[in-house]
Amino acid sequence: MALYSEKVMEHFKHPRNVGVIENADGIGEVGNGKCGDIMKIYLKIEDERISDVKFETFGCGSAIASSSMATEMIKGKPLSEALLLTNKAVTEALDGLPAHKLHCSVLAEEAIKAAVNDYYDKKQP
Ligand code: FES
Repeated sequence: MALYSEKVMEHFKHPRNVGVIENADGIGEVGNGKCGDIMKIYLKIEDERISDVKFETFGCGSAIASSSMATEMIKGKPLSEALLLTNKAVTEALDGLPAHKLHCSVLAEEAIKAAVNDYYDKKQP
């Protein structure tokens, strides 16, 4: 059996939502100390909804595929829904990841949460 699903390979080769949002409303950056990979998520938010999302991931193929899938899953969604996105849901949407690569999908969940929290922090008077 192939180590990576077709969906993982497809999102790795053609990642969606790569890039930077200038004047983003929320930015989340997380890293994994063990592998050294870093993921950064940019959110544009209108009426408590994610109107645009971009990512920069300096990391492995699974991290890139996870970022791509996760950003697709939260685009257009209310913030409350984005906060509920789990790494498990991202992994399932990718038709699975090898066990030693599950932490790559955790980065996506954490980066999104960090970006939403950054937005709430900035909003505070
Ligand atoms: Fe660490 Fe993929 S190996 S994020």
